Amino acid sequence: MSWLQVIKKALFVLSFLFIVFYFYNYANSESYLNSAHGNGTYGVKRDVTELSDYSQGNCAHCHEMHGSINGNEPSPAGGSPSPWALFADNFNNGTTTGPYSQSDDFCFYCHGPSSLQSNGITNYDYSQTFGGAPQNLNATNIMDAFNQLSYHNLYDIWNFAKQNFSFFKESSNPCVACHNIHIAQRSCGKPEGSFNPSYSAISKPSDHAHLWGDNDTERMNYYASGYTYQAPYWCGTTTYYEPAGDTTYDGSNMPDYVTFCTDCHNNSNEIYSTTLGRNLYKIDWETTGGESGGDKHGKNTATVSTNLKAPYNNATGFVVSCLDCHEPHGAPNVMLIRREVNGEKLPGNITTLDTSNWAYLCGRCHKDDSYYGGSAGEFEYIHHLDTNDAPYPGPPKSCGTCHDWDHAPIKCNKCHFHGGDDSWLQNVYPSEYTGRRCF
Ligand code: HEC
Ligand code: HEC
Ligand code: HEC
Ligand code: HEC
Ligand code: HEC
Ligand code: HEC
Ligand code: HEC
Ligand code: HEC
Repeated sequence: MSWLQVIKKALFVLSFLFIVFYFYNYANSESYLNSAHGNGTYGVKRDVTELSDYSQGNCAHCHEMHGSINGNEPSPAGGSPSPWALFADNFNNGTTTGPYSQSDDFCFYCHGPSSLQSNGITNYDYSQTFGGAPQNLNATNIMDAFNQLSYHNLYDIWNFAKQNFSFFKESSNPCVACHNIHIAQRSCGKPEGSFNPSYSAISKPSDHAHLWGDNDTERMNYYASGYTYQAPYWCGTTTYYEPAGDTTYDGSNMPDYVTFCTDCHNNSNEIYSTTLGRNLYKIDWETTGGESGGDKHGKNTATVSTNLKAPYNNATGFVVSCLDCHEPHGAPNVMLIRREVNGEKLPGNITTLDTSNWAYLCGRCHKDDSYYGGSAGEFEYIHHLDTNDAPYPGPPKSCGTCHDWDHAPIKCNKCHFHGGDDSWLQNVYPSEYTGRRCF
């Protein structure tokens, strides 16, 4: 037998076991038949004549067991036989950074701008689907979502996943680190259709065989027990909330994205980013202890007081979800930052890391000077004038020591980033250093 025949035989046996497994679990909600791809009405259907006899949802729309069907190879033709007997190569690991083209990733043949799926597929970004934002004209499918200013680098995900998760193989697809395609469901609904929290599209990489978020111990309110999860406003309203655009605001209908994202981004994993050219900061959403603890947007509670807009209303004791600030795939801002947060679009794009424009993001939840008789988009009150809690009250003399000139805004990322404090001042203005945890 040639190696090709061996692979085909192995795949045949595997798929037989697989079919038995998935169809035997007919009653199980996490089965192929209940998945988005396996759905008989809106599931996979490649728009090629060779497959016209195959029903919607049939495995053959993704797997070509024999390489050809009735003597012809359906589109996309050519190339070497692909691992997993897929109709195209699963992932091109020669592409180490974006922008991506269709042939870089098997999924893009359907979830891309020129889809082989009959009638195409529209997938909006998170800000629209689960936040109610107006359409992002540059990202109405998954491939285009990854081809924005910032994106989850697929090569790095592939590389990280194959080293850390045993189900993930050399020939696996980076999307599969977060999605189990044989069981992934259509959860979204909004803005089209209806939202169903017991459906989920994602699987934690450490528990690939199951969906994540489809039952109530896998939701944000469960993660936040002992704290408060407050869902951000649905775009354009002060009465409806994410992710469903209805009156539920406690996260009981939202997947626990903190546990999901921290499966990779926790306090111990070293994660290299080819795009950024360095290891990522570690994310600590767990450690309490005030100024010596982890991030205050996590379980480390804000100290003294906050200046928070509705629906947070100056309170403390919240935990914030990663996807309240981030997109999962890509964004028009640096660092996957959402274009719409807590009910409104950001006033502009954040196009570099080293900038005072982070105020666009912070100002969606924290009160700027317009709440205290000053100007919108400025943050003097919080840092200098709040008699309760300002870190640099006064303000301190020799303004230009911290401000480049006069009181020009300072680049926020000197002090505000995951795990950061104001130790930048230890060199700049040591007597003003507070050591406060700034994120
Ligand atoms: C043959 C076409 C095709 C291919 C290839 C394909 N998909 Fe899909 N996918 C679909 C269709 C059709 C749906 C259901 C569309 C809908 O929701 O209206 C879907 C739905 C999904 C969903 C559920 C969420 C949703 O919007 O419904 C996820 C997650 C998903 N696909 C991920 C992937 C990943 C990851 C890959 C690559 C490993 C992939 N798909 C490859 C056609 C395809
Ligand atoms: C949306 C496209 C799509 C559909 C539909 C699909 N598969 Fe797959 N399948 C894949 C991809 C992609 C992989 C490779 C997984 C990876 O990247 O690790 C795969 C892998 C497999 C594997 C290898 C083991 C595993 O579970 O990862 C088997 C067996 C398999 N598929 C069988 C099936 C059968 C049987 C069906 C129909 C009941 C089916 N697939 C439907 C895309 C699909
Ligand atoms: C780091 C994890 C991660 C990776 C990698 C990833 N996704 Fe996603 N994906 C998510 C999350 C999180 C959501 C949205 C939340 C939800 O549905 O609960 C999502 C949503 C989706 C949806 C549904 C969108 C909708 O309309 O609701 C599709 C389809 C999808 N992803 C496909 C892909 C494809 C294709 C790739 C690879 C090119 C990919 N994803 C890579 C995490 C990921
Ligand atoms: C399978 C592991 C994995 C999961 C799960 C995961 N990430 Fe990542 N993430 C990575 C890797 C690898 C990188 C480095 C590549 C890069 O910079 O894009 C990264 C990079 C990032 C970056 C920096 C992006 C940039 O501009 O370069 C952000 C922000 C991020 N992840 C947020 C998230 C959020 C939010 C979630 C949950 C929805 C999440 N990640 C889930 C692996 C993961
Ligand atoms: C309040 C908004 C907010 C929340 C909530 C949030 N992030 Fe971020 N994230 C940011 C900002 C701003 C940056 C850019 C500054 C930085 O790099 O830390 C960033 C950057 C990142 C980076 C890149 C870090 C680097 O090396 O520069 C990763 C990874 C990341 N976030 C993951 C997460 C995860 C995982 C969660 C949830 C546990 C999360 N974020 C929650 C705002 C947020
Ligand atoms: C999605 C809403 C949201 C966004 C966006 C946001 N924050 Fe927050 N922030 C909160 C909430 C809620 C708390 C309170 C957490 C708690 O109760 O422990 C908080 C707390 C803080 C604290 C702790 C304050 C204290 O008194 O200890 C700091 C510092 C902070 N945020 C800085 C920022 C910065 C800087 C940005 C922009 C880069 C930002 N936040 C963006 C929601 C947000
Ligand atoms: C120890 C460092 C430090 C010194 C010294 C300092 N500031 Fe600031 N100031 C800050 C920080 C941090 C912010 C918040 C970031 C920002 O808005 O630029 C800020 C913000 C401001 C703002 C709001 C700017 C904006 O557009 O958002 C004004 C106005 C301001 N300071 C005035 C002054 C004046 C006047 C002095 C001198 C009497 C001074 N500051 C001295 C740290 C300092
Ligand atoms: C020199 C360091 C430094 C710089 C630069 C800086 N901040 Fe801060 N910021 C702090 C400290 C310290 C706190 C107080 C944290 C606490 O309350 O414990 C703070 C608090 C905040 C808070 C939370 C206020 C609350 O209690 O609700 C926001 C929002 C904020 N800063 C926004 C910004 C923005 C926007 C910029 C850039 C325009 C900026 N900061 C620049 C040090 C800095």
